[in-house]
Parts: sequence; structure tokens; C-alpha cells
Amino acid sequence: MKYFFFIFVAFSSNAAFGETISLGHDLFFDKRLSAHGLVSCASCHSPAKYFTDGEATARGEQPNRRNSPSVVDMDRRIWFMWDGRSPNLEHQMTMPLEGPAEHGFSRGGVAWIISRHYKSQWTQAFGEFPKALDSWLAGKTLDEAHALPIPSQKFAPDPLLREAISTMDDTEFMRLLFAEAQKRGGLMQSALMGLYQNEPTTNGEWTTRWTELHPTIKESINHVFELARVAVASFVRGIHTQPSKTEKGLPLTAAEERGRSLFHGKAGCANCHSGPDFTDDQFHNIGLREPKPFDAEFLPDLGRAFGVGAYRNNTNDSKQICMKKSNQACLEVPYLNVYGTEATGSFKTPSLRNVARTAPYMHNGSLKTLEDVLNFYNDLPAKPSVGKRSGLLRSLGFTSSELNDLKEFLQCLSSPVEYHDGRTTHVIP
Ligand code: HEC
Ligand code: HEC
Repeated sequence: MKYFFFIFVAFSSNAAFGETISLGHDLFFDKRLSAHGLVSCASCHSPAKYFTDGEATARGEQPNRRNSPSVVDMDRRIWFMWDGRSPNLEHQMTMPLEGPAEHGFSRGGVAWIISRHYKSQWTQAFGEFPKALDSWLAGKTLDEAHALPIPSQKFAPDPLLREAISTMDDTEFMRLLFAEAQKRGGLMQSALMGLYQNEPTTNGEWTTRWTELHPTIKESINHVFELARVAVASFVRGIHTQPSKTEKGLPLTAAEERGRSLFHGKAGCANCHSGPDFTDDQFHNIGLREPKPFDAEFLPDLGRAFGVGAYRNNTNDSKQICMKKSNQACLEVPYLNVYGTEATGSFKTPSLRNVARTAPYMHNGSLKTLEDVLNFYNDLPAKPSVGKRSGLLRSLGFTSSELNDLKEFLQCLSSPVEYHDGRTTHVIP
């Protein structure tokens, strides 16, 4: 008897899980979840492009400074975003959905779309849609529901620092940061955050509307938004690479084999691109040059220093996130080094699976081809645009045939990508 009971339970929860993935899949592709109905997650993470967009930097509701990374094998990552400012996928999801540069949408809008277009799917995945919220939404247009966004945040750098940056070279930049850090009691990160102060825009209208909402409605909107993120995250967790040529034990060509030895040996790539996905899931400053000089509008991207600062300045948020779903990143958060400078200009080591298919490269999309990347590592620019280059890197000074071997090896890290829509598995060959 117990045996049958167990099967029944396992089957029914799998069915609900399938529905959750299916809902997440549909939301991932739904452009209605954006301020002007033009942007979905897939606009920047398109299956046809191995879940990237093929652009140097992302274009959503507004232009973005960073390159859209591939969202494959996300269940194996520890930190999310180039600067790792998010410790889990559910939390990460909030940023594109409510970020003005990506979807520019709001949790009120998400609740409205779900109540109009996804009610039965929702019920199958999570049970009944909150009744009070449903009737509250029934009398509203999308615009009315959407007019309840989180207060949009704008990065407004300290005007004095901003002016200073416009003329300085890198050493000066660091000196300035140290001086600012001392002023602020020695915390490098608060100096950095001060540089890009996270000022909520004075959206008084929003605050009034949200405050005036009935607590049940507020709570239900947040609850629906949270479950929507769970659904999309469960879909994303199911996007995986299939085994590559090397993993299938297929023979490599002589050039690929030489490239593999260089990668793991003399070239030192595996110092950071290690493990099954060719990433150590850590942050390094490889010393890229920005495509143009900094000025008051084009400020340095501080990378991990900013990501660490985000946890420090947002402890309540990180605590809440980590209370719900603790993971390795959450365990590390209390020990993040806020005094160090090595975080400045550091970015997450990207996975190299399918790297031959996901150009352009780097957090700022500044390198167009694999050749550009290899030429970069072969002859490193003398001075990084931001911070200090990792001690793990030296110019390779390789011959063109060695560089070509490395390229051949990188190309054999390509393999099909599969994802599940809750009903069937799709394979991108
Ligand atoms: C306008 C383009 C755009 C849209 C739309 C967009 N993203 Fe992204 N996504 C990006 C960029 C750019 C980054 C890197 C951001 C950063 O580092 O600050 C990113 C990062 C991510 C990451 C972290 C990847 C990693 O390796 O750390 C995930 C996961 C992700 N997006 C999923 C989503 C989902 C789910 C949606 C829809 C709700 C979405 N994105 C919508 C551009 C976009
Ligand atoms: C010190 C650690 C480190 C070493 C050593 C290193 N990398 Fe990287 N690699 C990174 C980081 C970090 C990034 C992202 C940097 C950024 O965007 O600012 C990166 C980016 C890349 C990219 C771009 C991937 C993408 O999707 O944008 C490729 C390709 C790459 N590395 C290949 C190599 C090769 C080949 C070697 C050896 C010659 C190598 N790397 C050595 C850390 C390293």
C-alpha cells in the first residue's frame, strides 16, 4: 500500500513540477512582460544563439553597458551576473524584469499578465491564484496594474568623483578611491558605492500608490511575483549543454590535442577556466581596455567590487534571499573581502562551453572574435582600464600556429544545447 502511495505522490509532484517548468518556459518567451511589449528574456537569451543575443552589449527597453551572457548550465553556477551581485537565480530574475534597461516591467504588471493569460497554468503549477488579487486586477487595465513598479533606481555618481574620473588614468583612479575609502572609515566598498550612489528616484507617486494599497493586495502581488520567478528559474535550470567531443571520448585532431595541452599547460588558461565548464566560478581582473576613454557619462565598470558592495549595502535583501534558499554563495557572503582592491575591475570567469558560438566576448562585448580574444591574451595591453590585472596572467608571446591550436581546442568545446518546456525536450544542434 505504502508503495503505491509513494508512486502517486512522486507522480503528482512531478506533474506540478512539469507545469512549473512549462509556465516558466512560456513566461521566458513572453514579450507582453515588458514596458512596451517588445522584450522577453529570449530577446537577449535566444535559443537560436545558444541563449545569447549576438550583440556586443544588450539592448532592451534601454541600452545596457554589459554583454548578455549565455544562460546555459546555470544550475552549476554559484554567483550570477558578471559581477556576481546575485547569489541565486530566483533573486537574479528580479533585475531583468523590473530593471529599466531590460524589461522595464513591474510586479504589478506581472501579476496582471498572469491573471489574464496564465490562470489555468498557474493553478496547475502552484494552486489557486490569490482570489482577492484576482478580483482587484479584474477591474484594472494593464497600465493601471503596471503603474505599481518598484521605485526605479538610478546610479548617480558623486559629482566630485565623477568629475575627477573624467580626466584620470588608472593609478590616479585607485589613489582617489583609497582617499575616498579613508574618508569613509576605510571601507573600499562604500567608497565605490559612493561613486555610483544608488539613489532611488524621487518617485513619490509610486510610493503613495504602493503605500495606499491594501496589505493583502501588496502581499499577494509580491507572492505571485516570487512564484513567477520560481517558475522562470526552474525553466532556466533545465537548459543544459550535451557532452562535447572531448567528453564523449571522440578522438581529437592533432591541432586540437596540441591546443588542449597548451590550454591546460603553458598557456595557463586552466588557472581560471577550470572544471567541467571551464570556469572556476570566481572573479578576476584580466585587464581589458575599454573601447573608449572614461568621461562623466562613460564611467569605469568596477565589476566585482560593485557586486560585493551590493551585498554590503543591501544586507537585508541578501539575508532575505539567503534565508529562503541558502547555497554556496550565501555561505560566502559574510566573508566577502570588502577591504581588498583585487575585486576592482574583476568579472566572473565565463564558462567556455560553446564559446565558438557565442561571440562577441567579455563583459563589455569588446572582443569580436576568438582570434581577438587569443590576440588579447597573447599580447596583453600594458595598462588595464580599471584596477590591477591578476597576477595569474602574463602575455603568452605564442607563435601564430600555437594560437591556432588554442583556437582549434576552443572550437571543440561546442556541443548541442537542450532545454525542456515542461512537455518536450528541444535540442539546438
Ligand atoms: C535586454 C537584454 C536582457 C534581457 C531582456 C534579459 N537579460 Fe538576462 N542578462 C542580460 C545581461 C546584459 C546580463 C549580465 C548583466 C550584468 O552582469 O550586469 C544578464 C544576465 C543574466 C543571468 C546571469 C547569467 C550569469 O552567467 O551570471 C541570467 C540567469 C539571466 N540573465 C536570465 C534572464 C531572464 C530569466 C530574463 C527574463 C526574465 C532575462 N535574463 C532578461 C541581458 C538580458
Ligand atoms: C586570471 C584568470 C584567467 C586566465 C588565466 C584566463 N582567463 Fe579567459 N577569462 C577570464 C575572465 C575573468 C574572463 C571575463 C573577463 C571580462 O569580461 O572582463 C575571461 C574571458 C574569456 C573568454 C571570453 C568568453 C566569453 O564568453 O565572453 C575567452 C574565450 C577566454 N577567456 C579564453 C581564455 C583562454 C584561451 C585563456 C588562456 C590563454 C584564458 N582565457 C586565460 C579569466 C581568465
